Amino acid sequence: MAKNTSGRGQRDLKVKVKTARGRSLSSTRWLQRQLNDPYVKRAQAEGYRGRAAFKILELDDKFRFLVPGARVVDLGCAPGGWCQVAVKRVNALGEKPGKRIGTVLGIDLQEVEPIAGAELHQLDFMSDGADAQIKEWLGGKADVVMSDMAAASSGHKQTDHLRIIALCEAAAHLAFDVLEEGGTFVAKVLAGGAEGELQKLLKQKFTKVANVKPPASRSDSSEKFVVATGFRG
Ligand SMILES: C[S@@+](CC[C@H](N)C(=O)[O-])C[C@H]1O[C@@H](n2cnc3c(N)ncnc32)[C@H](O)[C@@H]1O
Repeated sequence: MAKNTSGRGQRDLKVKVKTARGRSLSSTRWLQRQLNDPYVKRAQAEGYRGRAAFKILELDDKFRFLVPGARVVDLGCAPGGWCQVAVKRVNALGEKPGKRIGTVLGIDLQEVEPIAGAELHQLDFMSDGADAQIKEWLGGKADVVMSDMAAASSGHKQTDHLRIIALCEAAAHLAFDVLEEGGTFVAKVLAGGAEGELQKLLKQKFTKVANVKPPASRSDSSEKFVVATGFRG
């Protein structure tokens, strides 16, 4: 059971979770971290489907790629936080009068609850023909390809790292295929040594490649984001 252990009158009340029968120590820790995470609270207050939304918000605040009128592909988009942010920032619903209207195409292995302003499809990005299918849905070039894809954890750090790099490389190849000159590629990677080849590849294709850990990314996680801007075409 969750209980409030701090004194009365304090603004930021810390929630402590007691261990309960049937709940492992790791899930107790996870629950306690969720209940005390300011980004989880903000996501609830601001109507985002998850705290991940703040990672793309912070990356976009720094690099400004989600501009009104931009055409965005979001790979691994479930439950939809990044798509929600993109819809607002690229003006997909035309809510910013006088500004260009953008588009958002979201892809995930899982079904995603509809998001007004986004076109969502359930697809394994690594399956045969996925690239061609995405290009067909897109119906033209994109300004931004972003990927928050993560393979289900195997529990083995190095295996997970190699899997995420494979997803990331596949996403980069899609980006090379569909990005407009000057476009941006954003992808989650896990620090762990095998990302050198990816960096080399991106440096050939983009004018700038930055590796960033936004404040919303948990400090105890090895994830970071690569933001490659200025696609050379
Ligand atoms: C961390 S979540 C994405 C969170 C999302 N950015 C948001 O803001 O809600 C990673 C997603 O990648 C998806 N994913 C992993 N491998 C995939 C694949 N091969 N094809 C499509 N989606 C994939 C997972 O299903 C999962 O929903």
